[in-house]
Parts: sequence; structure tokens; C-alpha cells
Amino acid sequence: MKGLVVYYSATGSTKKIAKAIWEGMKGVIETDLASVKEISPQAVAGYDVIGIGAPIWYFREPANVRLFIYNMPSLEGKMCFTFCTHGTAPFGIFYSMVPALQKKGLTIIGWADWYGGVEQVLHAVKPYFTDGHPDEIDLKEAETFGREMAERALRVAAGEKDLIPEIRRGSKAEPTFRPPHTPGEEVGSGDSFFEPPPRPQRKVNLEKCRYPGCTACMDNCIVRAIDFSVSPPVFKKSCINCSLCDRICPEEAIEIDEETIKFHRTQKKIDMTRCIYPECTLCVDHCPMNSIDFSVNPPVFKNNCEGDDLCWVICPKGAIEITNLELTHGKLYNASVQSREKHPFLQYLAEAEAEGKFRRLVPMEDIGWDTPVFKSQKLPRFVIDE
Ligand SMILES: Cc1cc2nc3c(=O)[nH]c(=O)nc-3n(C[C@H](O)[C@H](O)[C@H](O)COP(=O)(O)O)c2cc1C
Repeated sequence: MKGLVVYYSATGSTKKIAKAIWEGMKGVIETDLASVKEISPQAVAGYDVIGIGAPIWYFREPANVRLFIYNMPSLEGKMCFTFCTHGTAPFGIFYSMVPALQKKGLTIIGWADWYGGVEQVLHAVKPYFTDGHPDEIDLKEAETFGREMAERALRVAAGEKDLIPEIRRGSKAEPTFRPPHTPGEEVGSGDSFFEPPPRPQRKVNLEKCRYPGCTACMDNCIVRAIDFSVSPPVFKKSCINCSLCDRICPEEAIEIDEETIKFHRTQKKIDMTRCIYPECTLCVDHCPMNSIDFSVNPPVFKNNCEGDDLCWVICPKGAIEITNLELTHGKLYNASVQSREKHPFLQYLAEAEAEGKFRRLVPMEDIGWDTPVFKSQKLPRFVIDE
């Protein structure tokens, strides 16, 4: 039996966990470790048990991880486990990711989540509540989890099918399997602590769209909200604005009107008087969706930009300008600091702490309420540890 741990990590937390899981698995079966950039989705077919890990982004797996899973071949008969890191509450990610893995024929033999620090969410207060994770204790846990997954895979393969854990749905679901929305409402709507911005109106640009040659948006919509049986296609009321469709569309054919997109995604441009491309290509190299196009001058950010703003925090020259920072992050930050006690993240973390699931490494008095990431003056704001 051969194992693989494959992961995406922007700022290193998921990578640390992935490495520890791999260490644990290696003691039981031959196992490889690779990031989604280092291995092709097709190569996954060469393994019998596959662990897939990602940070939670907007209550789901990042679009590059979703695409990686989508492009994997059928893996009928093989086993899979999944893991994530997150900075608040582990809602949503496996609700979204596990059905996509099951569609590939994979049997899910386990899952786990850990806290990770928050470096690139621009409105996040800094130091942030979960900074310092994953620490040595988390990594030991991850190593044990990896060993258990390899041992379980061997036993399931030998016929012990009762070791396959039941995935509970609905009100009994574990947090990672809980839908991050109430039906018909937007993702994250359950804990909104400020007036939600206008709901984006999506439309399919039929000149660019390759349907029925491509059905990526429909196949990946977790609430099946895209209806191509009519022309032009419609986004049904069940759309939760998770943005997976517009980010994974290979033709950039799903468009959102200017008036609402500005509330939802950072709009960026590059100040070429500061940028030293091609001497530095950090933003291009680390962009999860290859959204930055330097083949034109000035460079452009494509429609598939995740709005994760990794480029902004790692640029050593401060050359990336965000033109709508106040609308996307400033409002959220102001709402969060004005109502600190009502901040839902604090509530979740307090509950998790009481249940022994969260260990607070940053004391409350050290939380950087006045120094959110977007006010950071130092350059680079964050250095990726290669
Ligand atoms: C764009 C973006 C969205 C995020 N959304 C969530 C979220 O919905 N829930 C959550 O708990 N954490 C969220 N986070 C925090 C990350 O999940 C957390 O920082 C993670 O540990 C980072 O992993 P990495 O260092 O491997 O990239 C988000 C981070 C980013 C950059």
C-alpha cells in the first residue's frame, strides 16, 4: 500500500500539519508528501490512500484545491482522508470538499482539523486570536493522526469495513461538515455581525462560456444553483455566494456586476514604479490561481483572483495597491472592533476553549485590536517560509 499527503498552504500552517501527518504515515506505509503545485491531479492515481489538506477560505476549500480534486481521475476503490487548518471555527470545509472527493469514488476514512495563525486576512486583528498554532502539541497530534490513518487504511483494505467512520449530516454533523449558510442565504450569514453588503449578481458571458463542452461551474456548485436549461443560464435563489464558480471557470465567463463586486473582492493594481518584476516574481509564483498576468503592461488581476490577498502581504516593495480596501476590509474591521464582546469569532473560540478544543497561545490582553493586517507598515508584511 502506498500513501500520499497532498496539501495547499499559503502561509505555512497547513504545510506544517501536512508534514507531521506524513511523518506519522511514513512509520506505517511508504508515503509521499507534495503540495498541489508539485504533483499533478492525474498522478494521485498511483496511490492507495490519499490525504488532502487545505486552509479554510471563506468556509470552503480554496478554489485551487477544488480544481485539483475536480481534475483527479476516477479513484474508485481507493481511500482518502482530509484535514484542514482554520482561524476561527471549522465550519463548512468538509461539507463542501468531501462530496467532491466521494464523487471521485474515494472512501473517506477520516478527517481532522487544527487551528492555524492568520496572516493574510486583511481585516484580521494582529496579533490574532489563533496565532502560534500549529504548535508542537498540534504537530504531535497530527503525527498521531497520520499514523492512525495509515493503520486504518491497512485494516480497511484487509476487510475491516466497520472502521470506515460514519459521516453525520444535518443537526448531528461535526462543525467541519456543517453547512456554512442557512438555505437560500449567503455563506457565513449565520454569524454576520455587520450589515451584509449587497448580494452580487452573477451572469454567464455566453461569448466566453464553453458549455456544454465545459460544466465546471455546475459540477462544483455545492448548492446546485446554476441552471443551464434556460438561456441565458440563471443563478437560482439557492446561490450562497461562495464564489467557487466564478473562480474556477477556465474562461472567466462568470461575471459579477461592478456595483456589487467592489464590496466582495479586493480590487488590485500594481504600481510599476515600485514593482521590480521580473527580478522579483513572488506574487506570481505564490498566487494560488495564477491570477496575476504580467504579459500585459500594466499587469492585470484576472477574474479568478481568490481575493486572498497573499500577493499584497508578501510583496517586498509594497507595490500592490488595493483600491477598495475600505469597502471590503475596513468596514468589517470597524464592525469587529466596535463590538468586540459581540465578535462571533470570540464566541466560537471561547466555546472551543471551554470544550478543550482550542488552546489560547496569545493572551487576550495581547490581541492587536488597533493593528489589523491592513495597517501593517513593514515590508514585506509576511515572509513565506520555503
Ligand atoms: C481568504 C481567506 C479566507 C479565510 N476564511 C476563513 C474561514 O472562513 N474560516 C476560518 O476559520 N478561517 C479562515 N481563514 C483563515 C485560514 O483558514 C487560516 O489562517 C489557515 O490556518 C491558514 O493556513 P495556511 O497557513 O496553510 O495558508 C481564511 C483565510 C484566508 C486567507
